Amino acid sequence: MPSKSSSQPSYNLSELLAVDYDLVMTLWNSAPGVRASEPRAEFARILLRNPGLSTVARVGNELAGAVLCCHDGRRGYLYHLAVAEKFRRQGIARALVDRSLSGLQKVGISRCTIFLVADNAQGKTFWQELGWFERTDLIAFAKDL
Ligand SMILES: CC(C)(COP(=O)(O)OP(=O)(O)OC[C@H]1O[C@@H](n2cnc3c(N)ncnc32)[C@H](O)[C@@H]1OP(=O)(O)O)[C@@H](O)C(=O)NCCC(=O)NCCS
Repeated sequence: MPSKSSSQPSYNLSELLAVDYDLVMTLWNSAPGVRASEPRAEFARILLRNPGLSTVARVGNELAGAVLCCHDGRRGYLYHLAVAEKFRRQGIARALVDRSLSGLQKVGISRCTIFLVADNAQGKTFWQELGWFERTDLIAFAKDL
């Protein structure tokens, strides 16, 4: 994958796998604005039900970024997008999102949604810059089972 400038190391994208659990949880939970709380078995179940959709970026052997991606047959969802601080502003998040969205398109999903922690201004700018629109017509409700 080309990098923006020759001084920046290139990154590789691949499928996020169950064995990446510890590394990605550490990355996600070190990123303000990301709330990743899936137990290991739930994480593995999401990946099993959504083969190939979630994406990880590595620079050499180092984890640089990751996103969890799934769908319910109608809509797609991206969760926990984060890039390690030292690898930011090199297009890695954009590439993670693009790979996962292509996967959703290939299985016939025509819209993807993300949930953003309300005070994550940096995250909001990112999604807006990528052309995502804010759903001001909806309010999310939840119920614990
Ligand atoms: C948001 C985040 C994922 C962006 O990762 P990244 O790899 O640096 O993003 P990219 O390099 O792909 O940026 C793509 C575009 O988004 C915009 N953008 C990204 N970070 C930005 C920032 N901090 N401020 C303003 N614009 C930003 C820019 O337009 C950028 O393009 P440019 O570099 O050509 O100007 C990263 O900052 C991060 O992990 N933040 C903490 C976790 C988080 O907030 N996640 C999103 C919530 S779901």
